[in-house]
Amino acid sequence: MADGPRLICASADLTEGGAGIRFEVQWYGETAPAFAIRFRGQVRAYINRCAHVPVELDWQEGAFFDADQRFLICATHGATYEPLTGVCVLGPCRGRRLVPIEIDEVGGEIFLRASG
Ligand code: FES
Repeated sequence: MADGPRLICASADLTEGGAGIRFEVQWYGETAPAFAIRFRGQVRAYINRCAHVPVELDWQEGAFFDADQRFLICATHGATYEPLTGVCVLGPCRGRRLVPIEIDEVGGEIFLRASG
């Protein structure tokens, strides 16, 4: 069955390099944790699962950026990801990437794109 667009949050809830918004998606038939962040004005969303070991990235809820607010960082072993591409640029899974989730920012709100 196809799912329609689903509201994740208001655009204003995602500040530049700030806390991410956690939500859940259906992924390969299971409910999986995901998150959205804003970087250089753009919103990106990924499955909340490190490319190194399948654990969640945030060291405390919503904390995905490093101290400089330049990269996403995994709390477990420090894998460092480009926010706009999800590619790991430093750490044990360098060259691998986060799983992207398609979202749309429309009318001041952020939606999970319809599937199916
Ligand atoms: S689990 Fe993320 S860097 Fe190892």
